[in-house]
Amino acid sequence: MADATPKANPETVRCTIDGMELEVPKGTRIIDAAARAGIDVPHYCYHPGLSAPAQCRMCLVEVEKAPKLQPSCTATVADGNVIHTQSEKALEARKGVLEFYLVNHPLDCPVCDQSGECKLQDYTAAEGRAMGRLKEPKRVQGRDDFGGDVLFNADRCVMCTRCVRFMREVAQDERLAVVQRGHKNVIDTFFDEGLEGNIWADNIVDLCPVGALVSKDFLHKARAWDLDRAPSICPNCTQGCNVRLETRDNAVMRIKPRPNPEVNAHWMCDYGRLNYEWINREGRIEAPLVRDGDRLVGVSWADALTRLAGALRDVPVRDARAVVSPFMANEDAGALRRVMDVVGGGAGVYRCEAGEEVVLPGFPTLALRPDRAANVHGVELFGFKRAGGTSATGGLDEAAAHRGVLFVLGDELADAPEGFGANASLYVYVGHFASPAARNADFILPATTFAEMEGTFTNIQRRVQRFWPAIQAPGMARPAWQILGVLLAGISDAAPVGTAADAFEALASVRPEFGGLSYTDLAQGGAVLPSFAEAGD
Ligand code: SF4
Ligand code: SF4
Ligand code: FES
Repeated sequence: MADATPKANPETVRCTIDGMELEVPKGTRIIDAAARAGIDVPHYCYHPGLSAPAQCRMCLVEVEKAPKLQPSCTATVADGNVIHTQSEKALEARKGVLEFYLVNHPLDCPVCDQSGECKLQDYTAAEGRAMGRLKEPKRVQGRDDFGGDVLFNADRCVMCTRCVRFMREVAQDERLAVVQRGHKNVIDTFFDEGLEGNIWADNIVDLCPVGALVSKDFLHKARAWDLDRAPSICPNCTQGCNVRLETRDNAVMRIKPRPNPEVNAHWMCDYGRLNYEWINREGRIEAPLVRDGDRLVGVSWADALTRLAGALRDVPVRDARAVVSPFMANEDAGALRRVMDVVGGGAGVYRCEAGEEVVLPGFPTLALRPDRAANVHGVELFGFKRAGGTSATGGLDEAAAHRGVLFVLGDELADAPEGFGANASLYVYVGHFASPAARNADFILPATTFAEMEGTFTNIQRRVQRFWPAIQAPGMARPAWQILGVLLAGISDAAPVGTAADAFEALASVRPEFGGLSYTDLAQGGAVLPSFAEAGD
């Protein structure tokens, strides 16, 4: 038995859950202890980021010697507890709870956005009654627009109050409440304004365990089981929230937060969440183009990069200038810096849209940051300086007038003056869209966006975080670090970079701080640049 052996550590308790012996810190809730043992106890109202009201009764488990079943979301493990999550008594009680929820819950599964990832569906399939016994008609309450991106289907609500608690405890903007009593209970907003204007409100759609709160943006767009999911980093501000890109037919359908206690806990803002259509934008450059007089001619990668390496060797003025997008990865910006150093050195700028900072009061280290691009701090580490205004326009005068080698990396140059690049002895554009200013280039090289490649961003805390490919790149587009890595090997004795990990490793030659990190160490949580504090950067 678990309590028979003397315990070495007074700060821990021992228990047995479903026959598995476990030692956990004192005060651990049974539901969390079970999770450590790989056992998922059904639950609705419990969420690790919120208070636990023991409201839904879905998490009942049997604890030997306790007089009645315990809600595992509030009951903590006592030393020597013997817990059964699958005993006949526990299963029977939970079956009753599920039947109770299904009394009024509509059988909307074929049209409900939550279908496939609904906790009522999952638990009913796992341990509910095989047949419903209800003969009476179900309650019909209809749909309500809660404002912002949120629609409320009152019929589907299981009254777990996660949404109300999120708005109270985390957003600290109490806009939702439980109104009425007993079977007339319903979630409601106080005023007509509803959730409008609170940029954290879409988190309640993630929190809702059923299809009661759904996103207007995602409504009837895709079924959960048709989506592919890739771990990524939100590209839309310098916070670097950990997210999943959920995709179908090679397009991003929605973005969901991925837990990281150091960065965004379980949350993300609506600005980042809903700002993804640009990733799906069509009309990308699909092949390397090389200038031949007035024409741009499509060529193979080998041809383009061989010719470019030759042109860089022969160019008369070797000083370089660059315009870099802060949406590009560390690996991309670092590789460009290395190329520029070989070409003869030179300065570069980045342009970034800026706006108001909006802090999440219940987790104040998370905010929609003023700089609305993920890698502002990364491109700064590689020596690129801010230019232009808060709408990411202007600031190109120096680059436009430059007479040496001009590189553009990822910036679309939508506002660039006509004839941009005409003064340059060699103009190289590595990016996504052939805007008029990009079409002035001598070499146009198609690069992937962050969603199509592996790489890292450096966030406002100087935390370096990895992202992975979620969709396929168009045509012949390649990661900029790969394009510039091959070029670098062609114009210097640098080793060729084969993988994203190689490209990351090479960053240490530009910024030694990166030498303390490896792709493997970064894993999925990221790491703060080790020598940042000493460097006082
Ligand atoms: S709307 Fe969803 S999150 Fe809110 S109480 Fe109902 S079931 Fe829970
Ligand atoms: S806070 Fe920034 S990184 Fe996080 S979701 Fe919002 S825009 Fe994206
Ligand atoms: S999760 Fe325990 S009572 Fe709701």
